[in-house]
Amino acid sequence: MTFLEEIQRRRTFGIVSHPDAGKTTLTEKLLLFGGAIRVAGAVKSNKIKKGATSDFMEIERQRGISVATSVMGFEYNGYKVNILDTPGHQDFQEDTFRTLTAVDSVIIVIDAAKGVEPQTEKLMNVCRMRKTPVIVFVNKMDRPAGDPFSLMDEIEKQLQIKVRPLSWPINNGPEFKGVYNIFNRSLKLFKPDIQTIEERIKFEDISKPELENYIGSDAQVLRDELELVEGVYPEFDTAPYLAGDLAPVFFGSALYNFGVQELLDAFLEIAPPPKPSFAEEREVKPNENRFSGFIFKIHANIDPNHRSRIAFVKICSGMFVRNNMYKHIRTGKTIRISSPTAFMAAQKEVIDEAFPGDIIGVPDTGNFIIGDTITDGEDIHYKGLPSFSPELFRYIENADPMKSKQLGKGVDQLMDEGVAQLFTSQFNGRKIIGTVGQLQFEVIQFRLEHEYGAKCRFETMPMHKACWIQSDDKKELEEFKKRKHQKMAKDKLGRDVFMADSPFILQMAQDEFKKIRFHFTSEF
Ligand code: G4P
Repeated sequence: MTFLEEIQRRRTFGIVSHPDAGKTTLTEKLLLFGGAIRVAGAVKSNKIKKGATSDFMEIERQRGISVATSVMGFEYNGYKVNILDTPGHQDFQEDTFRTLTAVDSVIIVIDAAKGVEPQTEKLMNVCRMRKTPVIVFVNKMDRPAGDPFSLMDEIEKQLQIKVRPLSWPINNGPEFKGVYNIFNRSLKLFKPDIQTIEERIKFEDISKPELENYIGSDAQVLRDELELVEGVYPEFDTAPYLAGDLAPVFFGSALYNFGVQELLDAFLEIAPPPKPSFAEEREVKPNENRFSGFIFKIHANIDPNHRSRIAFVKICSGMFVRNNMYKHIRTGKTIRISSPTAFMAAQKEVIDEAFPGDIIGVPDTGNFIIGDTITDGEDIHYKGLPSFSPELFRYIENADPMKSKQLGKGVDQLMDEGVAQLFTSQFNGRKIIGTVGQLQFEVIQFRLEHEYGAKCRFETMPMHKACWIQSDDKKELEEFKKRKHQKMAKDKLGRDVFMADSPFILQMAQDEFKKIRFHFTSEF
């Protein structure tokens, strides 16, 4: 196979959902189709269940699982499919956002009964920002659900994207009969059996009375609804989908393996192969001969005795070859990656080469940080891995004076992994940890103790938001910093950060200092 063919057959995507909508179940069923796993139940949910015996145990358990399921690759009908897993818990949403920078498209799972939920909206915002093509899978049709037209309206309104159903449900709940696949004009009947995969029935002309033989009195409803679908929604066109302006919608029941193959087949046909990536210096096309990639995730080894980590590299251009000499742009060092791993199914294996769209795991002893670029020599810096303004803040204090070195090292490494963000107060020099979720503080404390032998104490800081500030007007910037000096901090890169106590104070500052730009992500 040629280099170009290898690129064209790759589909790298993420599945996202509000917790419990069925992301894990759908992932598992896709892996079953791909032959990557044999039995249902092989993929474990990586969510932290409410009321778990111990959050720490859950964190450890989750980390163990999520390294295994971070990337799941499989071959299907000539395609190389790479599914990138995202954490289920909302406190880890930054991890999810970063993972979304490494995908070419996304499948959003929605619970038919619950509709669009808060986390779905947030995730869609990230996709919209990056113009990522999105397919919607409406799950749990075997359960009582609302009117599908209202759901379409809700998706359009709340996710701010045009929709186009490509399959349509025939009733729902106990009366669920199946779906009509508009994409390839066939009928698929539902039988609530977890293991069987249904044959689809080619059914071009639904006005034929045979339709009644299959679905009884629901046939007429289906005809009427499909007529309405064709009247209301424009003909499906891949261009707006690929531009991120239109989401095709499929219905099914992941638990019963129903509608999943339709989704997969249509997905492979319409979803984009690897797209160009954007470095600060230029746009990089996947089919360029020279190798380049970036690190979007770092995973610490769960074995506390070996502080090794795995850096996940998304290959953006060229072919990756094991043992070649590559350049680590941030440090300028030449590196040789001798045991890169690929993730086929839930197994890791050492590979000799990989192509754009692939993700490889690189063993790391603390040299990499999230966002690092690796190339075969060209000095480019991939962008698009922003940190978001944290919303929870605590001072971090050393609780064991004998271990201050360990604490410093631990905090640094955890920040490199992207667990949280570290700021230093310009007023009193104290270290501040900023996160987007409560759980991160527990993770930090637990990991510092178990992996670095350091103890820390947190002190709450009632703070609304941290934002990066910038201005072309040096005088105004100095004036601002002077006035707010108690609330100024530096981030890890030494940039100025303003810590606003409340939305009101932030608004006042914005109103008063018009020449200052307040940024809510670290990339500007
Ligand atoms: P998540 O990763 O998005 O958080 O969701 P997950 O797949 O774990 O699914 C959440 C719950 O919804 C699970 O039940 C799962 O079995 C159920 N589920 C998923 N898809 C469907 C579907 O199509 N129909 C129905 N009826 N249920 C579905 P659970 O009881 O929370 O977990 P479990 O004990 O069954 O694993």
